[in-house]
Amino acid sequence: MIDLHSHVLPGIDDGPDSIEGSLALARAAADAGTRTLVATPHVSSRYPNDADTIELLVGELGARLEEEGIALEILPGAEIAITRVSEIEPSEMHRYGLGGGPWLLVEPPFTTVVAGLDAIVGDLLRRGHLVLLAHPERCPAFRRDPRMLEALVDDGVLTSITAGSLVGRFGSEVRGFAVAMLEADMVHNVASDAHDHRGRRPSIADELQAAGAETLREWLTEQVPAAILTGGEIPPRPSVELGGTRSRRWPWGRR
Ligand SMILES: [Fe+2]
Repeated sequence: MIDLHSHVLPGIDDGPDSIEGSLALARAAADAGTRTLVATPHVSSRYPNDADTIELLVGELGARLEEEGIALEILPGAEIAITRVSEIEPSEMHRYGLGGGPWLLVEPPFTTVVAGLDAIVGDLLRRGHLVLLAHPERCPAFRRDPRMLEALVDDGVLTSITAGSLVGRFGSEVRGFAVAMLEADMVHNVASDAHDHRGRRPSIADELQAAGAETLREWLTEQVPAAILTGGEIPPRPSVELGGTRSRRWPWGRR
């Protein structure tokens, strides 16, 4: 699997404090079936990381993984807070792309109102970037106004939900919304958003299985992320049955 969202780099955000912690997370990812892990440290007002630092740490961690014999490829990326977008020089923005490609992982705020989000995303799209939304299911504003999320998806934005959301790690409301999104073809990727090797660990397959979405695993965790990393065409979602107990249908908008 390809995991597009992780906080595996040491000492630069709320991920591991040390390289040992990064190695433990990487080992757990490899054990869970991940072959490529994109390092997406926060780029936010709290963690104002820059592309130089990210590239340097990805290089260092990659070298350590090789020394330790851990079969995991680490690629650079970033999780850019929507509120931080305007502070990154437009000419530098491409350096934050997932795996060096054209897709930016953009994090909506955890607030009930997100004034200006569509304008900021629209501006990125006009400038030639592609936008993958990080865990929109955890954003109260989208849960309150799902049509706002639909409008973004209609504009070509893709969504990456957190595997743990599907099994209630962030509460039943987030779980219900994540499942409804999945049913309504509003989910294009499932990632771990791992922060360590125990609590918020780098696991995806178990959660998909538990949520009855095993039939979409290859598309969600191999085909779509591979296209995102290379900037290739996103393959259409296979028409497969989802298993498990559905908690809620998508009752909004056109879907
Ligand atoms: Fe994250």
